[in-house]
Amino acid sequence: MKIRLAVMNEKTSRIPRFYEKTLQQRLGLLEKGGFISAEEHKFLLARQGGLPFNVANEMVENAIGVLELPLGTALNFLINEKEYVIPMAIEEPSVIAAVSHIAKIVRQYDGFKAQSSDPIMIGQIQVVGVPNSSQAIQNIENAKEELLTMANACDPKLISLGGGARAIETRWLEGDDHRPMLILHLLVDCRDAMGANLINTMTEKLAQRVEDLTGGSVYLRILSNLADRRLAKATCRIPFEGLGWRSFSGKEVAEGVQIASEFATADPYRAATHNKGIMNGISAVCIAVGNDWRAIEAGAHSYAARSGKYGPLATWHVEGDYLIGEIELPMAVGIVGGTLRVHPTVQTNINILNISSADELGEVMATVGLAQNLAALKALSTEGIQRGHMSLHARSVALSAGASEVEIDEVVDAMIDCGEVRADRAETILLSLRSDKNEK
Ligand code: MEV
Repeated sequence: MKIRLAVMNEKTSRIPRFYEKTLQQRLGLLEKGGFISAEEHKFLLARQGGLPFNVANEMVENAIGVLELPLGTALNFLINEKEYVIPMAIEEPSVIAAVSHIAKIVRQYDGFKAQSSDPIMIGQIQVVGVPNSSQAIQNIENAKEELLTMANACDPKLISLGGGARAIETRWLEGDDHRPMLILHLLVDCRDAMGANLINTMTEKLAQRVEDLTGGSVYLRILSNLADRRLAKATCRIPFEGLGWRSFSGKEVAEGVQIASEFATADPYRAATHNKGIMNGISAVCIAVGNDWRAIEAGAHSYAARSGKYGPLATWHVEGDYLIGEIELPMAVGIVGGTLRVHPTVQTNINILNISSADELGEVMATVGLAQNLAALKALSTEGIQRGHMSLHARSVALSAGASEVEIDEVVDAMIDCGEVRADRAETILLSLRSDKNEK
């Protein structure tokens, strides 16, 4: 793992009361803070960021439209001493507020530290019916350089950027009826690309030569989403004094979070929900930057099960007067190619992040996952999540019941007070609010 050098800048992602502003004011603040250009400001304000139908039509089959998601920005993130405003595309309320809240705490204590391994992806070639296993392995061993050269010939640009096929490994597996399968792993440094197309091209290219060398038949040639050579890791260290919340002391919160973490380590049922929350954060950034969130989800969950037992991607423990959190997971993301080139808003989102490599993007995403996890565990191990969740949910319920901008706060408060956040309740509250006003 390498630690990215700190980039000192004068920007700050700490923008107080951002959530209270109008769209115009928010974009103005982002421009003033150096996170978007004047052009991007105009572009976002005019809501020109949607995918044009003609582009969507080139991307998938049988297109009939495009589907929009809310795009928000997580604030307050200080990662490796660099300020980040982080775009997140997500339909679920609370997630953006939750990660921004944790980032605001962590930035007071040196911020998050993040690092990543080299961007190495794995391509798999499955060979069956190998007549002589030791001879096959020997032949592959002798031909490694030749195979790597063949793979690298598929993408001279990648080589010029410092990437390329690095190694070949072999494994034996058993299929049904103990049928032996030889699996070749081609390890490729993908630099700033996610790498799926690249790897699939390379593995297909090698197939015939692998059959010649092994005497077997090649079946699958495809990348693995268990990208366990391309990891990102993030950590944070918060003193108890930073964690006090409502009636709970910082020590109580820290111990609650540690106990919640132990639950996820002991129980796959809990670990699944713990990790779902983490992916709320990670996938939202992934979508905003036009990356393949299914690949990230598959990598994350398979990595969580790598010991044979499904476990948490992030863990927390108390050390002295500190709560320490750590997350590690595969991060097969790219900042070149794919959707990045065609979606008008994706490039703006990458600009807002101000990242210079796919590794850095992975580090930011891992950090957001860690922040989300702390927000969830902090709430779950103290007052529960419903209160915070419900106030945001109540806003959309009030809106869908027909509350206007001036009515919405009153309707939300009334629903929360009576503990009934439902459309029928919102309608009743609205009726009585309007009749009270008419009577006055
Ligand atoms: C909800 O989308 C996510 C949580 O369930 C995560 C968790 O339980 O840790 C709150």
